[in-house]
Amino acid sequence: MDPLVALLCLLPLYPGLAAVTPSCPRNVNISGGTFTLSHGWAPGSLLTYSCPLGRYPSPASLLCKSNRQWQAPGATRLTKAVCKFVRCPAPVSFENGMYTPRLGSHPVGGNLSFECEDGFTLRGSPVRWCLPNGMWDGETAVCDSGDGHCANPGISVGAVRTGSRFGLGDKVKYRCSSNLVLTGSAERECQDNGVWSGTEPICRQPYSYDFPEDVAPALGSSLSHILGATNPTQKKTENVGRKIQIQRSGHLNLYLLLDASQSVTEDNFHTFKACATLMVDRLFSFEIKVRVAIITFASKPKVIMSVLHENSQDVTEVISSLENANYKDHENGTGTNTYEALNSVYIMMNNQMQRFAMNTAAWQEIRHTVILLTDGKSNMGGSPKPAVDNIKEILNINQKRNDYLDIYAIGVGKMDVDWKELNELGSKKDGERHAFILQDTKALHQVFEHMLDVSQLTDTICGVGNMSANASDQERTPWHVTIKPKSQENCRGALISDQWVLTAAHCFRNAEGRSLWRVIVGDPNSPWGKEFRIEEVVINPGFDVFAKKNQGIPEFYGNDIALLKLAEKVKMSTHARPICLPCTVEANLALRRPQNSTCRDHENKLLDKSSVPAHFVALNGSKLNVNLKTGIEWASCIQAVSQDKTTFPNLTDVREVVTDQFLCSGTQNDDNSCKGESGGAVFLERKFRFFQVGLVSWGLYNPCVNSDKNFRKKAPRNRVPPPRDFHISLFQLQPWLRQHLQGVLQFLPL
Ligand SMILES: *[C@@H]1O[C@H](CO)[C@@H](O)[C@H](O)[C@H]1NC(C)=O
Ligand SMILES: *[C@@H]1O[C@H](CO)[C@@H](O)[C@H](O)[C@H]1NC(C)=O
Ligand SMILES: *[C@@H]1O[C@H](CO)[C@@H](O)[C@H](O)[C@H]1NC(C)=O
Ligand SMILES: *[C@@H]1O[C@H](CO)[C@@H](O)[C@H](O)[C@H]1NC(C)=O
Ligand SMILES: *[C@@H]1O[C@H](CO)[C@@H](O)[C@H](O)[C@H]1NC(C)=O
Ligand SMILES: *[C@@H]1O[C@H](CO)[C@@H](O)[C@H](O)[C@H]1NC(C)=O
Ligand SMILES: *[C@@H]1O[C@H](CO)[C@@H](O)[C@H](O)[C@H]1NC(C)=O
Ligand SMILES: *[C@@H]1O[C@H](CO)[C@@H](O)[C@H](O)[C@H]1NC(C)=O
Ligand SMILES: [Mg+2]
Repeated sequence: MDPLVALLCLLPLYPGLAAVTPSCPRNVNISGGTFTLSHGWAPGSLLTYSCPLGRYPSPASLLCKSNRQWQAPGATRLTKAVCKFVRCPAPVSFENGMYTPRLGSHPVGGNLSFECEDGFTLRGSPVRWCLPNGMWDGETAVCDSGDGHCANPGISVGAVRTGSRFGLGDKVKYRCSSNLVLTGSAERECQDNGVWSGTEPICRQPYSYDFPEDVAPALGSSLSHILGATNPTQKKTENVGRKIQIQRSGHLNLYLLLDASQSVTEDNFHTFKACATLMVDRLFSFEIKVRVAIITFASKPKVIMSVLHENSQDVTEVISSLENANYKDHENGTGTNTYEALNSVYIMMNNQMQRFAMNTAAWQEIRHTVILLTDGKSNMGGSPKPAVDNIKEILNINQKRNDYLDIYAIGVGKMDVDWKELNELGSKKDGERHAFILQDTKALHQVFEHMLDVSQLTDTICGVGNMSANASDQERTPWHVTIKPKSQENCRGALISDQWVLTAAHCFRNAEGRSLWRVIVGDPNSPWGKEFRIEEVVINPGFDVFAKKNQGIPEFYGNDIALLKLAEKVKMSTHARPICLPCTVEANLALRRPQNSTCRDHENKLLDKSSVPAHFVALNGSKLNVNLKTGIEWASCIQAVSQDKTTFPNLTDVREVVTDQFLCSGTQNDDNSCKGESGGAVFLERKFRFFQVGLVSWGLYNPCVNSDKNFRKKAPRNRVPPPRDFHISLFQLQPWLRQHLQGVLQFLPL
């Protein structure tokens, strides 16, 4: 045996020898919690604790020092790590009313009720609930007499206020009691528009983080008006809310600053990268004018992508540069110089302004959003404030131009974040928040989805669905329509333009009374949608359910496809928008494929696996899951038909029934489609957009047993025949689609 190998094998047996690799002791367990290590047990490694919901670790993290001892950042003595129970703070003062119960702090799940004295009206939440992150749900309760020029700004839970006059120019100041950290504005002034300057101060437990659903309503306008700026149809007075308005006019510069300093571990840096990628990808998915700068920083900033570069407008280039951003780029300077990072943004703006020549309308119209992904712990370069001041000056930020700049400070991941610093970095605006701490990438995705507002996007952009957990079914699948002959619905369909619906031919077997047929399209103003009359029905002439009766095939669904032209154009909204039809120029843009792509490219890109996850919409509107089989798996998927001796007693060739026109699903844990779901889109998601690859046609099993729309019965495990669904493949019906949709959609070469 090679002596070296022998030695390595023996190494763990000799504790004396193990010490050769210097490491910190391993007695760091936390009862009830877990921990992760950034670099194993070696010096420099950061240990991060985590606890179940409703509890928090104390200390939050440990650093393995070069003397091989653990140190808890900010603590003098090392104590055994424990998961402590989260508590919500108690009010310190409450004016013109009373609250119950009176406790020093409150357990998760506890309630706090507020009441006002006579003559005062309660604004905000009369009852608040202590959430598992140590925050009260709802809004600060205020007992207001309504006398001031500005409304009584109240005193948030845990805060003390000085200043009790609410006239024009009056100021109020806040501080937080005991260990709480103030986020928002410590000082606010009553402005002439009757609104307090800055953001409501909130006193937080240092260990608290945000839930996406709480962040959403608090979000700033920032990214908000951005893309609607130059749109003349949007009135200035219109309250557009605190969201990123997605429109086709206007320009946005997005500066993503990623902290790569030592206090942020490599793992967290990867989380930052994932978050940045997600934001970029989602923003570009709306085909709007965005330039993205990427800067990583530690002791020094490194510009990975500049807004001056042509590529900053190209999502593929931006994302690939993000992928190449490396934590190790900063290995020789691992401090945190937030000032320099922001200053590099200032320099970039300066250069862009000179390129545009100062004061041109083009430069003035650009909105700027800076997003810092950081733990907030700046330890070099002094206060970042002068850099922010320079940025404000160059962008000429004043009360009128306030929404041309927004700075967000966001902490994401399981790490120890400095709330106070994060708060100082973020912009402070009327009723908005710009500092957040989120637990993971998923939470950030949810928040980002809420920041976006597509209600002003009136273009017929295809395949844009809302991906928020809170969106309604129709907002998630706005192309989905219901087809109703006379009084009863019998089929589903999909909008493929603002006037055309794609559905199944077999829905029209009984063609009587066609003038009474209606298509129900989603409508933001009505939960029942809006009815449209049908101007034209185009049924594929090849469809003939009895075509193969002589071959022992009682029903045959080849060419089961139809197009409906609505009598009027549908107004695009969050509830009504077409899905992307593959092999069109529109879908090509959405897929971000090269201009010269072909229909075949789309098929390869969309049906790219032997089992492709896809969806269809259930009778009750919810999105169900299937796996579309291709290649050999398709061949075995369709074999189930041969076991259906009842329907096809004399079948010799399955392919006679299931031709190449059909996609197959129903294996694994797939949902099966019900009768009334025929004609609905079978679709999949790519790059945050949705593409219809098929339409629901027929199947071997009906999971809807009675008329309950919310219930479907899973097929028994050993059912014969096994449950299968067959969907018309849009790739196979291209000639027919092209023939009838000329001038409606632009098609790519086959
Ligand atoms: C720490 O916990 C792990 C898993 O729970 C266990 O395997 C290990 O023995 C514990 N170590 C100490 C020093 O208690
Ligand atoms: C708090 O209020 C909610 C609803 O108002 C109620 O469901 C809950 O039981 C209350 N919790 C306590 C601890 O009183
Ligand atoms: C989102 O939905 C959850 C429940 O699923 C709810 O608690 C939360 O308040 C909602 N958030 C928003 C912003 O509507
Ligand atoms: C860090 O310093 C070492 C030694 O001077 C050098 O070899 C290495 O390239 C530097 N790393 C970076 C990312 O600049
Ligand atoms: C999605 O829906 C939610 C809830 O209705 C809304 O707040 C959000 O702005 C929407 N986002 C997009 C991108 O449409
Ligand atoms: C199947 O074949 C048998 C015998 O050839 C015939 O009697 C029967 O009618 C056929 N069934 C169908 C559905 O064609
Ligand atoms: C499309 O154009 C790119 C270059 O723009 C080229 O590399 C590629 O081969 C072309 N593809 C086809 C299918 O012509
Ligand atoms: C809608 O129907 C599906 C199955 O058909 C079911 O899983 C889901 O829970 C239903 N949704 C609601 C809101 O009942
Ligand atoms: Mg740092």
